[in-house]
Amino acid sequence: MEIVIGSDHAGFGMKEDLKRFLSDLGHSVDDAGTFSGEQSADYPDWGLKGALKVASGKAERGILICGTGIGMSITANKVRGVFAALCADESTARLSREHNGANVLVLGSRTTGAALARSITKAWLDAEPEGGRHLSRRRKITSWEAQTCRENVETTENGRVIVIKHPLIQHKLSIVRDKNTSVKDFRDLLQEIAGLMAYEISRNLPLEETDVETPVCSARGFSISGKKLAVVPVLRAGLGMVEGILRIIPNAKVGHIGLYRDPNTLQPVDYYCKLPNDIGERDIFIVDPMLATGGSASAAITHVKRLGGRRISLVSLISAPEGVDKVSSDHPEVAIFTAALDERLNDHGYIVPGLGDAGDRLFGTK
Ligand code: RB5
Repeated sequence: MEIVIGSDHAGFGMKEDLKRFLSDLGHSVDDAGTFSGEQSADYPDWGLKGALKVASGKAERGILICGTGIGMSITANKVRGVFAALCADESTARLSREHNGANVLVLGSRTTGAALARSITKAWLDAEPEGGRHLSRRRKITSWEAQTCRENVETTENGRVIVIKHPLIQHKLSIVRDKNTSVKDFRDLLQEIAGLMAYEISRNLPLEETDVETPVCSARGFSISGKKLAVVPVLRAGLGMVEGILRIIPNAKVGHIGLYRDPNTLQPVDYYCKLPNDIGERDIFIVDPMLATGGSASAAITHVKRLGGRRISLVSLISAPEGVDKVSSDHPEVAIFTAALDERLNDHGYIVPGLGDAGDRLFGTK
């Protein structure tokens, strides 16, 4: 396994000892520093280096050491995606994996002896995260992290899900979640959010230079270079996002795909599909406000592929981890753009916390 290890001056000796121990166990060790125990070295500098390697996937796990372990755990847990656990015995180390999915182990060199540090490390490396209630608790943490993150776009899990975090989107999303929001406001806000999402999604469209005459002189400008787009709402709730996207990308063609979820089996049933003739040449955005079980979205993608669609992305207002897993495993090449990654589905297949049934709230049918 690829393990990054880091320490401050106080943890330097233990780091060197654990490096040998890890290599003897057959792991590949990346030393993030510090590189001397003689000079004072601030734990946030080296802790962040190690934690960022884990967060970015460059290392599978991390081990960080300072005098007490406290500075390193505070530091590492500031990095999104890091679950750092300060452990002083083998059983807590094992539980930090099984229950908390700790991807960073923190040790205190002044509180834990060298031999114990080795056996804590071994216990931690040998344990795996458990599912069930522990997974759902961990998801509460990642979901909170995703929703409060201040970056506008967050890429999670293998780059398949792009959570768009623009403050305006997050603000409006909270209003559409509110059960007291009127049908009219829900409708208006969903279109506004879809437009804002389209703005973010289209930020990498290729440009070409053009000449333009201003009232003053000629100037060099830019236009979007021959990109053909298609927006394909999944009926009926997907319709609630189309106008908003077309306000930003007015030349996109619109296809429609009709699927509904059988309330008993929760399986998608497909009843209508009409796509632009040249769908194979277009970048396709399949839109559905709620990515719940992923059954409808995955079926819609399969259907569009069967009719010749090749470059497909999915745009959803709110996604559940179960839906993301389903779409990503059925269609690993499809990017999922969403404004929120919620906690889970309930027994009725609704996203929690979600916003209820988007179709009903959009058309006032409940
Ligand atoms: C360094 O003396 C010490 O403060 C540091 O290693 C760590 O214990 C901080 O939490």
